[in-house]
Amino acid sequence: MSDASVRLGTPSTSTATRALLLGAGELGKEVAIELTRLGVEVIAVDRYAGAPAMQVAHRWHEVDMLNPAALRAVIDAERPHVIIPEIEAIATSVLAEVEAAGEARVVPTARATMLTMDREGIRRLAAEDLGLPTSPYLFVESRDALGVAVERLGYPCVVKPVMSSSGKGQSVIRTAEDVDAAWIAAVEGGRAGGTRVIVEGFVDFDYEITQLTVRHRDGVSLLAPIGHTQVDGDYRESWQPQAMSDAARFRAQEIAERVTEALGGWGVFGVELFVRGDEVLFSEVSPRPHDTGLVTLASQDLSEFALHARAVLGLPISSVSFLGPSASCAVLAEGTGVPVFAGVGEALAAPHTDVRLFGKPRVDGRRRVAVTVARAGSTDEARARARAAAAALRIELVEE
Ligand SMILES: Nc1ncnc2c1ncn2[C@@H]1O[C@H](COP(=O)(O)OP(=O)(O)O)[C@@H](O)[C@H]1O
Ligand SMILES: [Mg+2]
Repeated sequence: MSDASVRLGTPSTSTATRALLLGAGELGKEVAIELTRLGVEVIAVDRYAGAPAMQVAHRWHEVDMLNPAALRAVIDAERPHVIIPEIEAIATSVLAEVEAAGEARVVPTARATMLTMDREGIRRLAAEDLGLPTSPYLFVESRDALGVAVERLGYPCVVKPVMSSSGKGQSVIRTAEDVDAAWIAAVEGGRAGGTRVIVEGFVDFDYEITQLTVRHRDGVSLLAPIGHTQVDGDYRESWQPQAMSDAARFRAQEIAERVTEALGGWGVFGVELFVRGDEVLFSEVSPRPHDTGLVTLASQDLSEFALHARAVLGLPISSVSFLGPSASCAVLAEGTGVPVFAGVGEALAAPHTDVRLFGKPRVDGRRRVAVTVARAGSTDEARARARAAAAALRIELVEE
């Protein structure tokens, strides 16, 4: 599949174009819907049955994707044309083998999935190879080394396991007393039992953005900047466009182009940036649609998910229409049980307002189970609308 000669077959026949989604969460569900609209056969994979994207896929598999043999087996069984990772926790060495052997295309590239699954890989690429501005940082592997690193970087600083997402294991150190707790949180919150952590100087940013960037067969499309708020490293609200000075906007675009060019391949990237005045710092990048980009379900004629589907299939993206100031609001449930939603009618009563109920089979603790999106005359109004819709949803957790 390349350039203008893309052929798309028919699902469930020998002609099918098969896409293997590695990770079947709410973002993968939207990607799966967009792919099926183009007649692609979608196979969704996750660690647990009933994951959101499995509910809209042609087939699904319950697989531990960090297990190389198990991942290899599902690729051999399904023989996909394209492999689309939705999460970071994947045995990426298998993807490198598959790509090198020409068995399937890996989105955006196997190297990109490898570099971005580990904070160290992407940070060294951005700061050391590309010379992009970032927070000051050090990598350490013991409690004692953490103490030394914190003294060197100064207070406050942020500690994160090198392998983690959604704020897991992340904490801010404000005084020497916080070091022990930060070390324990990082070691317990990291994936795959590692003890390597990054310590970053705390950036006192004015605001942070996601610069969605699409690399596709005809070039690069930069979407309007998305502002967002995070609580405990997890996104709560996003809006588009984020107001920025011209200088900061151009700088953000420049950084996004450089880092995504270095990662290569086709698809959507979510480039996370911190902005202080006209200064822009690179934070991290997802080589896939970004959760803060859920706002594009309301703000654009082609959402980040539709754009991802087009890009990864080698289809053109000639234009993206911005429909107006928009916002999204994450809906969390806390407790134990199967989510049941009431108040959906009230949530949808306001104009240009929509919801996505993810269909997550169960909540154990705190989990994002839905999102609301809204468009209005300004981002402030859109945020208020999305928040009101979220507040209207009442979630009961039911034991079956
Ligand atoms: N060095 C930092 N200075 C200030 N805030 C930070 C820093 N690093 C992370 N944060 C805050 O924590 C959020 C999550 O951190 P991030 O590195 O993106 O982790 P994750 O991979 O879990 O999303 C960021 O969006 C930002 O709000
Ligand atoms: Mg992040």
